[in-house]
Amino acid sequence: MNAVLTDDEVDILLTAAAHAPSMYNTQPWRFEVHGPVIDVLADEERSLPIADPSGRAARVAIGAAAFNLRVAAAVLGHKSRLAIDPDPARPEVVARLFLDDRTAPVPELGKLYADVSERHTYRGPLLDVPIPRRVQVHLDDAARREGAQLHWLGSTAMSRLAELQRQADAADLADEDRLNERLRWVGGDRSRDGIPEETLGPLPAGTAFVRDLSLGLDSSHRDRIGYEAHPAIAVLSTEDEDGAAWVGAGVALERVLLVATSYDLTASFLNQVLERPADRAGVRELIGGRSWPQIVLRAGYPAQPASHTSRLDWRSSFDQWF
Ligand SMILES: Cc1cc2nc3c(=O)[nH]c(=O)nc-3n(C[C@H](O)[C@H](O)[C@H](O)COP(=O)(O)O)c2cc1C
Repeated sequence: MNAVLTDDEVDILLTAAAHAPSMYNTQPWRFEVHGPVIDVLADEERSLPIADPSGRAARVAIGAAAFNLRVAAAVLGHKSRLAIDPDPARPEVVARLFLDDRTAPVPELGKLYADVSERHTYRGPLLDVPIPRRVQVHLDDAARREGAQLHWLGSTAMSRLAELQRQADAADLADEDRLNERLRWVGGDRSRDGIPEETLGPLPAGTAFVRDLSLGLDSSHRDRIGYEAHPAIAVLSTEDEDGAAWVGAGVALERVLLVATSYDLTASFLNQVLERPADRAGVRELIGGRSWPQIVLRAGYPAQPASHTSRLDWRSSFDQWF
């Protein structure tokens, strides 16, 4: 039994954390609860040494999980404070959340709680309906509140992004190590982690601003359909480029995604253009060269229903309870 949090509270908090997005749905985190303090640790067993050698994507995912913790804490009535890399003696502790005593629900964050389990990555075609300007402003504000920035790409930047995407996809296809790593996590039936085929979306007929994560794998039985020509694409960037900035990018990403979900928007990611330094330098140039691109988002209203990926039971990533 925990000194401060009840079993039910821990369940609510860690279930929310585990709903966070992660590259290939690896869920690269573990949790520890020490009284009113929750630690999110990097789980090396769930790292991606080929596609994410620096651990940047894993840190982004941990940042997103930490934001979900804050949202769940808020709905339970706890204000919270987040520290990144709080303990030099334990570098595996990436994020630490300090919960204040329970009072009344904290509305500003708590109102996003329903969106935590609603949010999912949608890789299918989008409706030809633009995102209203006022909603874009709310998404920009969500990023800014967490110290990041959203850059919406215009048509010239989109053409250049399409080139970078072709380049990155071709490099992915030619890279056998990456292909083998993706095979471990993507395709087929999966009920705990990884990305099952049913959530990959259809195959685009022609060019589309969507990442086909099954690139190089057998896709013969997936539908091939036309995609929208002009999705809204935004690059989420941070001023700094270090381990703390990556976690901060994840925090900002999750706030943006939850606000997007609250407006019935869905998003998918085009992060293949950020996985090799040369392509990433190209994206950095596209957004003015002064900040660091961390995530490329394609956002809009879904034209089809989509299923959700599964999660490990948080108890399997739970280390200690004091
Ligand atoms: C850092 C990071 C990079 C990602 N890159 C991609 C990507 O390039 N393409 C994609 O389709 N999804 C990408 N995703 C989304 C994950 O595949 C997705 O979050 C995961 O499969 C869990 O599914 P869910 O988001 O539906 O809960 C990325 C997620 C994170 C956190």
